Amino acid sequence: MLFIRDGYLIDPASGTQGRRDIIIEDGRIRRIGTDLRVPEGAKILDASGLTVCPGLIDTHAHFRDPGFTYKEDLTTGAAAALRGGYTSVILMANTNPPVDCPKVLEDILSRGKDLPLHLYSCANVTRGMAGRELCDLEALAKAGAAGFTDDGLPVMDAGLLEEALIRAGKLGLPVSLHEEDKSYISENGINAGSTAARNLGLTGSPREAEISMIARDVGIAARTGSPLCIQHISTKEGVELVRRARRDHPNIHAEATPHHFSLTEDALLTAGTLAKVNPPIRTEEDRQAILKGLEDGTIDIIATDHAPHADFEKQKPFPEAPSGMIGLETALSLSLLHLVKRGHLSTMQMLACLTCHPADFYHLPGGRVREGAPADLTLFDPGEQWQVEPPFASRSSNSPFIGQMLPGVVYYTIVGGRIVYRK
Ligand code: DOR
Ligand code: ZN
Repeated sequence: MLFIRDGYLIDPASGTQGRRDIIIEDGRIRRIGTDLRVPEGAKILDASGLTVCPGLIDTHAHFRDPGFTYKEDLTTGAAAALRGGYTSVILMANTNPPVDCPKVLEDILSRGKDLPLHLYSCANVTRGMAGRELCDLEALAKAGAAGFTDDGLPVMDAGLLEEALIRAGKLGLPVSLHEEDKSYISENGINAGSTAARNLGLTGSPREAEISMIARDVGIAARTGSPLCIQHISTKEGVELVRRARRDHPNIHAEATPHHFSLTEDALLTAGTLAKVNPPIRTEEDRQAILKGLEDGTIDIIATDHAPHADFEKQKPFPEAPSGMIGLETALSLSLLHLVKRGHLSTMQMLACLTCHPADFYHLPGGRVREGAPADLTLFDPGEQWQVEPPFASRSSNSPFIGQMLPGVVYYTIVGGRIVYRK
């Protein structure tokens, strides 16, 4: 039994906020209250000064396992998640082999059972992520897919996507989409027309690559009514398309990443390939639109797009270096700084995008602190500063935030009533 004493509980699902004691027994939250009596034999965890919230849930992480385990594997990815305060992670499916058949999915999920967090995985929409033929979505659902995505690549065939949405909708599972039409893009990972692109002599990735895809796909999702997520939104026009679509079609959701709401394209001038990411980080106007989207609920999920790559890969010349950055260990801190401290969201609103919104969209058991619920909790000091620097818990260290002082230190991550990470 664990007695969490006098933490500052914030539970967005119930709107609860205030100092509380929490009693945990057999992996579940048994009681929440003030000045509770310590049950005999309970271990006491003094949480005074710490914020207590539902364990964070990431809907978008790449653990590279199988296939690219020199970048990350399930164990190191889980360690990065726990250090960042995450108790549940949904993996993307662009592994090698990709997650396009039950065998690959079952292997990941069965190895995930031994990890100290809740590991879920999406499966692919199309076979081999080739965009030509749908996977057996029904078999993948039966094997435990959390949803379907070809993340990393768009689904270019509109007819195929419509069929995927209809079938996924019948299964009650979301489809999440990486929205970049490659035919617009000469070099990915950098905003077209930016100072950085000009400095590097690159044309880059124009905003139309994203806007055209989002315009098409909110239309398809509106017709089918199936749950759809626009992943890592990067343009102000994209945000506006989702805003209008969501008015009549609440099945449409969108994710923002900490890097898209924290950085602008100028980050590439200082961080170089570490800030190369798909879709690219764009202008201050786009960043402001993403913040507005989070404020008014157009964007309801904060997702990391944790995308580890090795040093030798990120050291390649810009056009050859892979896109992506790690994110699990900095997401909470970047959210506290750029969303809460800068006055865009309350801590409660920010945590909703990291806990109950993702849980509801993917039908996960976590995301709430209430009596009877699984005891997945994150305890952090929102005011304490730390400096981002290697070594990370992740196997990779491709972060453009290295050197930055950020607020928010995770002290304890608790999964199923067990303290699985402590500072
Ligand atoms: O920058 C990115 N990297 N964007 C993605 O969508 C995929 C990811 C990766 O897998 O490296
Ligand atoms: Zn993506």
